[in-house]
Amino acid sequence: MLFLALKKTMIYKCCVQMGPYIRPYCLRAVLAVLCCILAGSMDAVIAWSLKPYTDLVMVEKSIKAAWYIPFVIVLFAVVQGTLNYFASYFNAWVGGRITNDLKFKLYKKLLTLETAYFDKTCSGDIIFKFNNDADTASNGLLAKLKMVISRIASTVSLIFVLIINSWKLAVIAIFILGLSFLPVAKIRKKMHEIIRKSITAGSKIITVYNESYSGNKTIASYNLSRFQESKLKQILVDLFNINIKMVQRTSWLSPTMHVIISVGVGLSIAYGSYLIVTNQITSGSFVSFIVALVALYNPVKNLGSSFKEFQVSMAAVDRVFDTLMIEPVVREAADAIELVGLKKEIVFDNVSFEYRVDTAILQNFSLCVKKGETIALVGNSGGGKTTIVSLLPRFYDVSSGSIKIDGIDIRMYSFSSLRDNISVVFQDNFLFSGTIRENIIIGKVEATKEEVDIALKMAYLDEFVDTLKDGIDTEVGERGILLSGGQKQRVAIARAFIKNAPIVILDEATSALDNRAEAIVQRALENLTADKTVFVIAHRLSTIKNADKIAVIDHGRLAEFDSHNELVKIEDGIYRKLYEMQFSKNTPEGSQHTG
Ligand SMILES: Nc1ncnc2c1ncn2[C@@H]1O[C@H](COP(=O)(O)OP(=O)(O)OP(=O)(O)O)[C@@H](O)[C@H]1O
Ligand SMILES: [Mg+2]
Repeated sequence: MLFLALKKTMIYKCCVQMGPYIRPYCLRAVLAVLCCILAGSMDAVIAWSLKPYTDLVMVEKSIKAAWYIPFVIVLFAVVQGTLNYFASYFNAWVGGRITNDLKFKLYKKLLTLETAYFDKTCSGDIIFKFNNDADTASNGLLAKLKMVISRIASTVSLIFVLIINSWKLAVIAIFILGLSFLPVAKIRKKMHEIIRKSITAGSKIITVYNESYSGNKTIASYNLSRFQESKLKQILVDLFNINIKMVQRTSWLSPTMHVIISVGVGLSIAYGSYLIVTNQITSGSFVSFIVALVALYNPVKNLGSSFKEFQVSMAAVDRVFDTLMIEPVVREAADAIELVGLKKEIVFDNVSFEYRVDTAILQNFSLCVKKGETIALVGNSGGGKTTIVSLLPRFYDVSSGSIKIDGIDIRMYSFSSLRDNISVVFQDNFLFSGTIRENIIIGKVEATKEEVDIALKMAYLDEFVDTLKDGIDTEVGERGILLSGGQKQRVAIARAFIKNAPIVILDEATSALDNRAEAIVQRALENLTADKTVFVIAHRLSTIKNADKIAVIDHGRLAEFDSHNELVKIEDGIYRKLYEMQFSKNTPEGSQHTG
């Protein structure tokens, strides 16, 4: 039964799923297994040596025949200790490497996943699935693997000692041993659901911490401390209840096994006494048998807690391999071609798109943008402007229709070449922790000093950088927290400038800034977009007016598409209304706002 249970779980999972990960380190893995087997088998030495010792010394009172036994015991203890040391070392070495490989593979998988995956998965889930699970899976499993292998070896050797002492007693002992494993099978099924709930609660805790970090200002300004506290408290209470349930369901295992095992010991003593009295076995055999039996049964009593940890690791293995099986929805074509610059035009051809099934965001959207044109996208909030520009670098794929660059569907281009040809400046740009320089050269890793200097100048960052003690090598903090909104924006523009992609997307790139900062960023953007094909979503009327064409997006449809001068002529036109509304609110030129 023990072997059947192992076959179903451990051996199957280890060999089939973990096998490819163990293979590169097979020499050390084999050494670890060998050390475990040898060390485990030596458990039987003391029990085995007690037979001659009892019979010769205790019964026959002859010390001469048994003088070597204490030396044998010490010698074996030294060898067993050494083997255990090497088993732990090789096990930790192989386990550490496998954990790293698993984590690296999971991280690579994470980087292939599309934006929609990140939209719908919270940060806690990602950390759990892509990091913690790999730790639990390989560390837990390998630590238990060492234990299980030495236990198996120890069990086999002890059973051998039982049999050579008395096969009749051995039959009883082995039968009881098998019986003691019955509760394990019962508990196994129950634990799956509890483990799943415990992981969900664990990932929720990580999400709360992440939100407390990222949203610390919002928490402070809205006095949300109490709210956050109660949120965490609730999850902790849930986790406590789950853990208690786990204890309720698993903690009876050890005592039950203990009782069954005690019955085994009791029966063996009773039957053994009968066998001695009837001279069927010697006293030595009996003592040796009982010591072997206790050595065999003892670990079984503690199996309950090890079994729980083992189940948690097995569940983590399952999840790790489930995670590795996730197929990205937005995929690169097998025979992808390279996009080398924009030659003629970008065409949105009857594009429809939905984030969630049956909730159309874009419907039959068509648009043609010629090389070198600047297209402004305007319209009501939530109309789909950001969605339209997100489709171009394939953050999402269209649901139907197609987007073509120079007549070829963008799904035919390799990811890297498509994205190399597009620079995106968002309203809120992400800066990595590191220096200003490191954040700028993301746009072109091999950029020369001159190129970086030009980018700084063009992004109107040079004066600011000159005021800093460490200049361009100043740390920006996590997410660029040490810079102002306008400075962050200009670092993002410098990064896009140095990338020098022919297609530029600006999504509300100036909307978070005050007038002065906006004017500087606006000039930086003009440098960035010169001679480029530009999609601009902006609220500054001057930017919109200067665009070659304006696309008015109304509830996911292209409602109007023409130049400013033509659009304002349309009676009852959406753009004209928008324009008049803004115009009447603001001073005549330049700083009016739309959409
Ligand atoms: N990641 C997402 N998952 C699901 N729905 C989304 C997602 N992003 C946007 N939406 C929905 O899609 C619609 C279009 O959003 P989008 O951001 O494209 O509008 P927008 O025109 O850029 O608006 P705004 O001017 O306010 O920025 C909205 O109804 C929005 O709720
Ligand atoms: Mg938007």
